Amino acid sequence: MTIAVACDHAGFDLKDAVIEVLEENGLDYKDFGAHRGERADYPVFGRAAAEAVAAGECDRGVIICGTGVGISITANKVHGVRCVVCSEPYSAVLSRRHNNTNMLALGARVVGIDLAKMIVQQWLDAEFEGDRHARRVNQIMATEAGAPIENLVDPGTR
Ligand code: RB5
Repeated sequence: MTIAVACDHAGFDLKDAVIEVLEENGLDYKDFGAHRGERADYPVFGRAAAEAVAAGECDRGVIICGTGVGISITANKVHGVRCVVCSEPYSAVLSRRHNNTNMLALGARVVGIDLAKMIVQQWLDAEFEGDRHARRVNQIMATEAGAPIENLVDPGTR
């Protein structure tokens, strides 16, 4: 699995820590910048990583800005990307199990390095559960495509 990584000027230290986690897991990665010393507009770098994921050049991505908000909004504008911004592991794991997220955004000014590494590890390990969640992810993707969707929940399902 190859992971796209990117950050703005708020995220250099955290990006290094994320790369450490990827290396510990024996995963390949592509670093889309920004690079230490440069000030950076997060949409440029977040978009580059997101486009690599959408194109299949990378399997998933981890992107970082000060809050994780701006860079996640950017990534989610790229068709095919489902990016979660989170600051605790529960949402990160459930975003994989239920939403099949292919990108994770972190706020370098929000989470400490150790917590962020735990979030990344658990997000990498978690698997999509499919089933009813696949239907809902398909509805998300249909929304992106401008196609109609409807509520298909059976009584008794969650
Ligand atoms: C940059 O100062 C900051 O705005 C950026 O890192 C991010 O938090 C935006 O959402």
